[in-house]
Amino acid sequence: MDLSTTYLGLHLTNPLIVGASPLCDDLDAVRRLEDAGAAAIVMHSLFEEQISRERERNAADLEAHVNAFAEASSFLPHPNEFHLGPEAYLEQIRRLRAAVSMPVIGSLNGVTSTGWLDYARMMEQAGAHALELNTYYIASDPTEDAVAVERRTLDIVRAVKAAVAIPITVKLSPFFSALSHFAAELEAAGADGLVLFNRFYQPDIDIVELEVRPDHHLSDPTELLLRLRWLAILSGQRPKLQLAASGGVHGALDVVKAVMTGAHSVQMISAVLRHGPGHLTRVRDELARTIEQLGYSTLAEMRGCMNLARCPDTSAFERGNYLRVLHSWRDPHVHDTRS
Ligand SMILES: Cc1cc2nc3c(=O)[nH]c(=O)nc-3n(C[C@H](O)[C@H](O)[C@H](O)COP(=O)(O)O)c2cc1C
Repeated sequence: MDLSTTYLGLHLTNPLIVGASPLCDDLDAVRRLEDAGAAAIVMHSLFEEQISRERERNAADLEAHVNAFAEASSFLPHPNEFHLGPEAYLEQIRRLRAAVSMPVIGSLNGVTSTGWLDYARMMEQAGAHALELNTYYIASDPTEDAVAVERRTLDIVRAVKAAVAIPITVKLSPFFSALSHFAAELEAAGADGLVLFNRFYQPDIDIVELEVRPDHHLSDPTELLLRLRWLAILSGQRPKLQLAASGGVHGALDVVKAVMTGAHSVQMISAVLRHGPGHLTRVRDELARTIEQLGYSTLAEMRGCMNLARCPDTSAFERGNYLRVLHSWRDPHVHDTRS
């Protein structure tokens, strides 16, 4: 079965990408991931505040940045415990390039279009095949409107696009008021792809100690549904953008659904952390069997068959179905006399 796909212009032997996480820090681990079937790897993010810190050596500035990076704080327990500093990060790209043949995607995480973006060019020079931009930001300032929030990301995309020749993809949050419009603007600004979506760090609270608990839970497949809807909508509307599903991809059926709704690739983290690299082999092999059973001869043939442009019932992804779902719900505890 031909599972090959193209993502960010890169030829991938199959759609399984190991998404951004510390798994990229250990060369042997990365070799095992490639041997097990990973078609590409995204490095964990290099954060704007790391670069700012390195440049300014100003602890007060770092503290001011930290609260703006919600996803950052979920992965990075303390500002002094980043996995790799900026220089070590570039060196790790070089080492990964020498160690594996699969594409290596660098990841930058930040919210301003200032000097730290020089690292985009440095990542390209170090050998990154593509860049993923994670601009996740909690818009908690009541004086900042939605246009300003979107403009931040658009400015970053334009700045990076002007600086590098390698493809760039934007890892988005699902919480935009007008995501279709924003996706069109991102494409116009130069994005080659989108990663749908960031997975939110959602702090719990301790009701006795009155503390915020910054736990980070691994995902489960229910999180995929939000991704499927937007993959279907955006892949139908923006065929030039190459899409990656991220969040809730655990098994082969999740991959099939993501590809059917239009994903060019899927990123897996929680499942790999939970089950180890061998999980990729199992998913890849089951994916091949499932595609064959469904009657397709290649993965590419299946891609997008359930997106908004081709799905027989587009209302299923839009509001129309909301009414149907609500009307068809029956309380299992109440005897239904309607039929
Ligand atoms: C331990 C860990 C570290 C992560 N580090 C990053 C990171 O540095 N940058 C980033 O964009 N996403 C990071 N993520 C988020 C993942 O790339 C991914 O978006 C998220 O886990 C959802 O995918 P999953 O359901 O396959 O886990 C991290 C996730 C985990 C579990």
